[in-house]
Amino acid sequence: MTASMTRIVGISGSLRQGSFNSALLRAAAELAPDNAHIEIGAIADIPLYDGDLEDESGRPAAVTRLQDRIAAADGLLIVTPEYNGSIPGVLKNAIDWLSRGDGEVARVFGGKPVALMGATPGGLGTVYAQQAWLPVLRAFRMRPWFGQPITLSRVHELFDGSGSLTDDATRERLAACIGEFVASIERAG
Ligand code: FNR
Repeated sequence: MTASMTRIVGISGSLRQGSFNSALLRAAAELAPDNAHIEIGAIADIPLYDGDLEDESGRPAAVTRLQDRIAAADGLLIVTPEYNGSIPGVLKNAIDWLSRGDGEVARVFGGKPVALMGATPGGLGTVYAQQAWLPVLRAFRMRPWFGQPITLSRVHELFDGSGSLTDDATRERLAACIGEFVASIERAG
C-alpha cells in the first residue's frame, strides 16, 4: 500500500456463508483501482444491542475494533440485502452498535464518504433497502455518494457457485462505480 492509497472499509449485511452481498463486496474489493484498498469489516461477532449489556460491560470488542477501522478509513461501503422492502435487522443492529459511545458518531461516521450497493435474487435490486439507509446516513452526517447505482437483481445469474462475479457487464459496471467513488473521495481530499 502506498501513502496515497484510498482506504475503504466494506461491510456486508448478510451473515450467510454463501451470501451474494458478501460476494458482491469481495468482487468490489477485487475490482477496486490500484490506488484503493477495500478491507472487509466483519459484523458476525456483534451481539444484539442491549442497553443492559452496554451498561455492564461497555461496547463489545467486535464493535470498538470496527469503529476504529472505519474511523481510520477514507470511506465506507455498505453492501445491503433487502428484507421486506427495507433494511435487514442484522445490519441495522451492527450499525446501531457502531453509533454508541461518547462522540463516536462524529469520530466514526461524521463527514465520511459512503456508498451503498446491494444484491438480491429478486427483481428490484435492493432499491428500497438502499433508500431506507439514507435517513441513517443523514443522522450520522455522512457524505453519501450518489453515482450510478449498483442494485443487482436476479443475482444468482451473475455469480457462479463459488461466489465469483462472472457477468462481464456487471464486473465492468462495478469497477466503474468503485473507481468513481474512489475518485470522488480523492477530489474531496
Ligand atoms: C428477503 N428477500 C428479499 N429480497 C428482496 O429483493 N426484497 C425483499 O423485500 C426481500 N425480503 C426478504 C425478507 C427476509 C426476511 C429474507 C430472509 C429475505 C430475499 C433476500 O434478498 C435474499 O435472501 C438475499 O439473498 C439476501 O442476501 P444474501 O444473504 O444472499 O447476501
